[in-house]
Amino acid sequence: MINQINYIKSKKAIDGGPVKVLVIGASTGFGLASRITSAFGSDASTVGVYFEKPPAPGKPASAGWYNTAAFEKQAHEAGLYAKSINGDAFSDEIKEKTIALIKKDLGQVDLVIYSLASPRRNHPKTGVAHNSVIKPIGEVFTNKTVDFHTGVVSEISINPATDEEIANTVEVMGGEDWGMWIDEMKAANILANGVVTVAYSYIGPALTEKVYRKGTIGRAKDHLEATAFEISDKLKDIDGKALISVNKALVTQASSAIPVIPLYISLLYKVMKEEGIHEGCIEQIQRLFEQRLYTDTTIPVDEKGRIRIDDLEMRPDVQAKVQALWAEADTDSLASIGDLAGYRSDFMNLFGFEVPEVTYGTDVNEMVEVSGLV
Ligand code: NAD
Ligand code: NA
Repeated sequence: MINQINYIKSKKAIDGGPVKVLVIGASTGFGLASRITSAFGSDASTVGVYFEKPPAPGKPASAGWYNTAAFEKQAHEAGLYAKSINGDAFSDEIKEKTIALIKKDLGQVDLVIYSLASPRRNHPKTGVAHNSVIKPIGEVFTNKTVDFHTGVVSEISINPATDEEIANTVEVMGGEDWGMWIDEMKAANILANGVVTVAYSYIGPALTEKVYRKGTIGRAKDHLEATAFEISDKLKDIDGKALISVNKALVTQASSAIPVIPLYISLLYKVMKEEGIHEGCIEQIQRLFEQRLYTDTTIPVDEKGRIRIDDLEMRPDVQAKVQALWAEADTDSLASIGDLAGYRSDFMNLFGFEVPEVTYGTDVNEMVEVSGLV
């Protein structure tokens, strides 16, 4: 957290950057990095929505809760507005609460980041609980995977999803909820003229295609990406636009749950670190803001209208090296040909361990006081 803030402070301010920002999915991963970049790179006021367990007697809170408390403390010390709402972003109630807070405190926002990753969504209109699955479509997928806790590489076979599972995954991770947020915010007149909204997507290599981009989650990403065009149409009258940013594969709570991906990431990290082009969430988002979103020129996009900050991951020489390592990867070789140590340390950091600045035994009540949670 502090490392991420310091990284942003070490960069020059983002010229013409955002002023008032809503981040949906703000407590970890790319969403937290987006909030930090907005606040400390552009002095932006930020509202963050997230879903985390607060501390209970004798029980610590979940990591994203502490991230948010620490972020707010730093932001407030820097004289920046920062408030957060902890609750289910898919619900009408949390949307209403967030809109009311923005209306009261900020008036309007000029940037809305949509960075939710969730295995489940309770649909606010139908009441149906949808669960997402990570499965291939059409045929069984068999490939190598690693249990990164033990380092054991094995073969995994995943049965194809049913049509119902595909539809449920699109309900959870597709674009409907993003569209609802923007519709409701627009109706409440809290979107500034020229507003930009960005949602995060992933593509990845041929190696993971059958389980990711051409699987259930890929269908959801297809839907999310199509939703960007629909939202842009609806925002035309206020000169607004919706964009997709395709980000790099990184260790987050979301990605560590996907089979095959951790093995890919451990090889990718090794190659990218050797090339000196490795980035974490904060480096990715800093580059998104400075070199894509807030420049004097038109935003560069691919043939499908998407911003690409996965450009370094997808470089042909990087992918060729990863593919060669993939062929060799087994339990014995992985420790030397892959960056399992880097994977594990990033994974531990997600939960607040191995982070030098944390004082263990910090009084939880003190954290509650500084957090200013709404
Ligand atoms: P993450 O798990 O680190 O963050 C998810 C955030 O969503 C957290 O702040 C969490 O509190 C919040 N959240 C989840 N359910 C919620 C709910 N019901 N209500 C409110 N908040 C909720 O995940 P991440 O990896 O940063 O993923 C964010 C986005 O980036 C996703 O769309 C993901 O597909 C995309 N992405 C991830 C990667 C990767 O490798 N990790 C790569 C490219 C794109
Ligand atoms: Na996030």
